[in-house]
Amino acid sequence: MNDAIEPTTLAAQAETEFMAGNFAGAVLLADRARAAGDDAALVTRAHALLLSGDYGGAAQSAFTAQHLDPTLSAAPYLLAAAAGRLQLADASGAPITQEGLLAEARRLHPEAYARHAHLYGPTDRPFDAYGHVDGVALERALRQGRFRAEDYYQAIAAVARRDADWAALLKRAGATALTPFTLTPAEIETMGRQGPWLVYWTMQVNTDLVIEAILGAARRYYAGWLVQRAPAAAVPYPQVLLAIASQSYLNEFIGEETGTETALADRLAERLANGDRLDDAELLVLGSYRDLGGIAGADRIDRAALGPTALQFLAMTIDDAADRQRIAKDIATVTRLPAGASQEVRAFYEATPYPRWHQFARPPTADRSFDEIIAADAAYLLPGSQPVGEPTEVLVAGCGTGSAIVPVLSYRGARITAFDLSLTSLAYARQRLTALGHDEIRYVHGDLLAIADMGARFDLVECTGVLHHLDDPWPGVAALAGVLKTGGRAMLSVYSRPFRQMMAPFMEASRKMVAQTPGTVTAKVRAARRDLIRQRLAGAQSGFLFKGSDLFTTSGFRDLLLHPVERPMTVTEFAQGCARHGLKCLGLMPTNADQARLLAERGRPADMAAEIAFWSQAEAQQPLLFSTMICLLFEKVG
Ligand SMILES: C[S@@+](CC[C@H](N)C(=O)[O-])C[C@H]1O[C@@H](n2cnc3c(N)ncnc32)[C@H](O)[C@@H]1O
Repeated sequence: MNDAIEPTTLAAQAETEFMAGNFAGAVLLADRARAAGDDAALVTRAHALLLSGDYGGAAQSAFTAQHLDPTLSAAPYLLAAAAGRLQLADASGAPITQEGLLAEARRLHPEAYARHAHLYGPTDRPFDAYGHVDGVALERALRQGRFRAEDYYQAIAAVARRDADWAALLKRAGATALTPFTLTPAEIETMGRQGPWLVYWTMQVNTDLVIEAILGAARRYYAGWLVQRAPAAAVPYPQVLLAIASQSYLNEFIGEETGTETALADRLAERLANGDRLDDAELLVLGSYRDLGGIAGADRIDRAALGPTALQFLAMTIDDAADRQRIAKDIATVTRLPAGASQEVRAFYEATPYPRWHQFARPPTADRSFDEIIAADAAYLLPGSQPVGEPTEVLVAGCGTGSAIVPVLSYRGARITAFDLSLTSLAYARQRLTALGHDEIRYVHGDLLAIADMGARFDLVECTGVLHHLDDPWPGVAALAGVLKTGGRAMLSVYSRPFRQMMAPFMEASRKMVAQTPGTVTAKVRAARRDLIRQRLAGAQSGFLFKGSDLFTTSGFRDLLLHPVERPMTVTEFAQGCARHGLKCLGLMPTNADQARLLAERGRPADMAAEIAFWSQAEAQQPLLFSTMICLLFEKVG
């Protein structure tokens, strides 16, 4: 590590280590940042110590942070959380209680209470999957890294790692790789202890092959249990079965199943279709293998006889899907609809809306404007000639299923229009965002090539992962630039060609497998994925494919490897092409930690042509740097 690193870089590294669950590393880096003069690093130190169980150390760091810099709003909350675990007394011998410290923290920083509320509360309540992730860090991840569920995944993994039985189970699953293995009742009990994981698996897609092996084994365990159970036996650890069923639904049943499992699922589906009454366990096991909503007879399930676990599962599957169909009917089509390639793309996303997600525990709070966020969090960008201002009319073009809207929720004064070509995706977005408490967003259906038909103008346009799926991206850029006010900003992300060239052999192999495999889309995708996993186990340099969540859902797999239209470009082509449509580049927005690190080293660009040349060269030399796309920020000029 370089000793001459700026304190802020050290603090950022400490934060990264914290988010990755490396608390000892976070403390070490925070100490160095502190030694270099960054008091704010004490907050990371306090949080890392708190989660390591060193309450005394955490209280001390939080106390020091609070006194050195009273503007650090997290400090008094961390102090209250840590001190609440200790028996403290004041100079007169009176006990210092958590309630007292918390009240003081709320008095000092009322605006920050919601962000830190997860640090309190009775320990016997159901786990909040994000309970161990600092709200401030979460918001930073939302704003800077765009949204990446994987960040929270790591934090939860760090909590789980402290359970020795879970660690042993992970090791066993890792050793068996993807060959089916069997779980013991004691191991199901170990899974039952993983509160944060269980919640996470009902909300977000698992992105780890080893955990996928455990989930697959647990699913088989319940299938086997069902076949052999004694009459009227209660489901062991029903919350584990619920998590498995929810995860299977969320990942669109991408996990492998054995012939015995397929036969059991087919038998149960047939009984449901014939009008037989399935009990809770049968419904949950069937729901772990098949989309209940797709089975005739599912709408006639007699719910009066079902318990809460099965009812919760039916609500998040059958009822949610029915609700989305109703929502879709209310979304207006505001442009002409497409001819040509867009029609094929539309059918693609109507069939498998992307990306899949269910819930975030904590939506971001809108306490800063877009201008303030950019000035503070992305100071390496060239400033635009004028602020965007508030209220900010924001267009999320090609919003998909809505996780791309989540970061925009943190812009104060944002009036959001969510636009997409796929009605199914829009309904998914609206349902999920409404569940987060956001019912103010306007959802509209249309083709971005004809977006001028809407007759609206925007201060900010965000468009991620869409332009490269147009037959020709440039009319799309022209259409977006056309609805942007002069001085407005566009944040656009596209596929990088050198990276997509690395993908080409894997795409070709997947297409071949899909063509050869009979049956449903799921069966085809599973076969193609199995082939990629085998290639990887045989030593293929394909680790990058398994990063992120795309390879872990059927829609993600299709989006990444089986898309009908793909027009990637280089950084230079992207910047120059946009310039031809009046979009002046203000700089690169990092979409991964490696880009962010390089940016931090470079600082604010003086000359955009040199900047673009730098990133283009980096892209050519290390295509993986842009595996998470090229995201540039533009200002509309002229
Ligand atoms: C890869 S997804 C990205 C979704 C979202 N932006 C995100 O990052 O999660 C691409 C989305 O663009 C939409 N799309 C593709 N072509 C479009 C067009 N011509 N007009 C509007 N939306 C389009 C698709 O329906 C799909 O939801």
